[in-house]
Amino acid sequence: MPWISLIGFMCSGKSTTGRMLARQLGWPHYDTDQLIVERTDLTVDEIFREHGEAAFRRLEHEIVEELPPERDLVLSTGGGLVTNEATMRILVVQGPIFWLRVDREDVLDRCRRPWAAKRPLLADSPDLEERVTQLMAEREPLYEKYGDPVPGGFAHPRGAGKHILEILSRRSDFRAYFGAADGKE
Ligand code: S3P
Repeated sequence: MPWISLIGFMCSGKSTTGRMLARQLGWPHYDTDQLIVERTDLTVDEIFREHGEAAFRRLEHEIVEELPPERDLVLSTGGGLVTNEATMRILVVQGPIFWLRVDREDVLDRCRRPWAAKRPLLADSPDLEERVTQLMAEREPLYEKYGDPVPGGFAHPRGAGKHILEILSRRSDFRAYFGAADGKE
């Protein structure tokens, strides 16, 4: 019944790594941002603008609460989900949590790219660097508290996935699951 949950800052590769991990394990992959968009028929950006961040965090909580607790699954989360303690309590009970760790320069580099620009918490800020620095300072203690750190990043999603599989295959409670996958592609 374990969930493998991925947390970490925006642009740390949680969705890509989650998809890859799920594919390797043959487990379903869920992505909280994607589930919220499907449920509301709004973009993440629209939810933030029209309903505010608190409403978005409530949606994240509902989505996580409704995921099947008895199933094996891989869960990619939005970068701010860790700020909701009640949501994190569910993830903690359900299985291992990995923190895709990226440094500030990497985040800035990735967040400046056009395909990464649609992030409401960054888009409204006149000073991207200051905003990222501030958000990272607020959130890193939470990522650290909840997650097992793994080097993240879009450039090497396979690396992060492999790393996670290696860690899990060494855990006695996971060995049975990972006998077949054992980190190889
Ligand atoms: C957010 C991160 C986004 C998305 C929303 C809020 C955040 O997800 O959930 O824009 O608060 O850090 P990604 O981490 O996938 O960019």
